[in-house]
Amino acid sequence: MRIHTCPTLAWMVFLVFCASAFAATPSLKDAYKADFLIGSALGSPSSYTPAELKLITTQFDAATPEVCMKPRPIHPQEDVWRFRQADEYVDFCQKHNIAAFGHTLVWHEDCPDWLFKDGDKPASRDLVLKRLKNHITTILHRYKGRIHGWDVVNEAISDNPKEFFRQTKWLKSIGDDYVLQAFRFAQEADPAMPLQYNDYNIESEPKRSKVIKLIRELQQNGIHVAAVGIQGHWSLDHVPYADIDAAIDAFSKLGVKVMITELDLDVLPRKRSGADVASRERESRNVQPAPCPPEVLRRQAEQYGRLFALFLKHRDVITRVTFWGIDDAHTWLNGWPYPRYNHPLLFDREGKPKPAFYSVIDAAHTPQRVGVFLPP
Ligand code: GLA
Repeated sequence: MRIHTCPTLAWMVFLVFCASAFAATPSLKDAYKADFLIGSALGSPSSYTPAELKLITTQFDAATPEVCMKPRPIHPQEDVWRFRQADEYVDFCQKHNIAAFGHTLVWHEDCPDWLFKDGDKPASRDLVLKRLKNHITTILHRYKGRIHGWDVVNEAISDNPKEFFRQTKWLKSIGDDYVLQAFRFAQEADPAMPLQYNDYNIESEPKRSKVIKLIRELQQNGIHVAAVGIQGHWSLDHVPYADIDAAIDAFSKLGVKVMITELDLDVLPRKRSGADVASRERESRNVQPAPCPPEVLRRQAEQYGRLFALFLKHRDVITRVTFWGIDDAHTWLNGWPYPRYNHPLLFDREGKPKPAFYSVIDAAHTPQRVGVFLPP
């Protein structure tokens, strides 16, 4: 039997096929252009494949250096500076119209020991302050006019409800005013530079109130704090939407902007539990390569969508939302708390958009969803 196909219909089918085959993936940065920057943590630009570079330049209009500007890699010894990768990062961002952010001038991790030593003895407060000033001033002057905002201090607030600051070598060597001193040196080095305080779990108590106290103290001491960075390393099914909502309101009342600086949605269990065999067995899932189950992808998409609806509600205060990595092949959660195969971001290991990507794009185009995300 011969089948007669209408030529017009055949053309239409062909055109629809072509349109879907070649339809451009929507762009996050375009979808949120009117709202806030969309960023990603970047490794060395020369380490990415052409496809990864295309993903970065088409999807993101902000970036944070994952490692190269942290104290140890950039300043491993008192007289040794390693600027090559940081220079490459800033050049790359400038070339592709990506707003380059600086991360981070002071942190307790990735921080070289020489800062706190004087020969075999602990260095005096004055010596550590002198080194801190030199560290901050040198970096800020080098990148003046090319960085859109600096995380001056990262993770200074203690997780312990009974203490204010985390116990670090900075605190031990300088004392309670070390955060203030760091902001002061940064403000003196480049008065026009937007200065940020960055930390995790600060959307929730007890850390939220401590951050509010810290920002107030900085402001009372003449520091212009531009923004508070909520890192946003959240876990599937445990996103603290109501806390995030309240924290953004509370921080904005201080007259600062809010940035979501290290967003990811971990899909694997986190706790390591010594003797509990059942949960250890659960936790060891995914040490072998394994695709993410569709049900998990669906929940992740829904939760990312709700998060972005919440961010849109605060679009007057939020200036940037940055993911901690470009895709599931480039995420610290493949190595923490131990090597395994995680799926926390919007693009899979091949850089293909996941359901969560479309959900985030969708949230940008359906503002009527804003306001319906909070639990009853
Ligand atoms: C913290 C730091 C980041 C990064 C992540 C995990 O959140 O601020 O620079 O190191 O941990 O990799």
